[in-house]
Amino acid sequence: MAIQITPSILTADFADLGAEVARVPGSDWIHVDVMDNHFVPNLTFGPRMVESLVGASPVPVDAHLMITEPDRHAAAYVEAGAGSVTFHVEAAAAPVRLAREIRRQGARASMALRPATPIEPYEDLLPELDMVLIMTVEPGFGGQKFLDLCLPKIRRARALMDKHGVQTWLQVDGGVSLETIERCAEAGADVFVAGSAVFDADDPDAMVAALRDRAGATAGRA
Ligand code: DX5
Ligand code: ZN
Repeated sequence: MAIQITPSILTADFADLGAEVARVPGSDWIHVDVMDNHFVPNLTFGPRMVESLVGASPVPVDAHLMITEPDRHAAAYVEAGAGSVTFHVEAAAAPVRLAREIRRQGARASMALRPATPIEPYEDLLPELDMVLIMTVEPGFGGQKFLDLCLPKIRRARALMDKHGVQTWLQVDGGVSLETIERCAEAGADVFVAGSAVFDADDPDAMVAALRDRAGATAGRA
């Protein structure tokens, strides 16, 4: 299981995002949190901003859509150049159609679950998905405390993926740091979003490497 580290720019300097993403060349993806003030109580970027970031980023862009009506809006983020597009299942009217459409357009299709949303009802969707994102905070803001109550769901999601023999990646997002990443890796996550832990560090790229080492050591033991 390859470990991937995905810095989130949510707490980076929005006036200088080109310079911010250039500080983490050792990452696997750049995570962009798209918020609409409806699905979550915060407002961030749209497709034009994502398109500019795709042009500036040294690595592919992972767009996390925290928006209502992702069925209508996800296509614009694939067109903007995102390599992976994540919609929230709580907001999607037709998640199977949406995932197929994202894949047909040429991006990786990913489905996110809020902390209180179970994975079990979506077991049969796993072959349709390139990644499942298990939120480890309530979505909306960076810098929140990691919710340990999400760990059993990560384990259950990994078990379902093993049962179905799918290659679906398992991403965690929210409160991921040197302190919490081991718990996530031990539970079976393999793609780690880290916002404040990376961009508040003196050397963000060294923090990406440190997170990778710690997750890799844990996953190797698991
Ligand atoms: C929260 C966002 C996260 C956020 C994570 O709703 O989806 O991507 O940036 O930030 P940290 O790592 O600071 O919790
Ligand atoms: Zn996110």
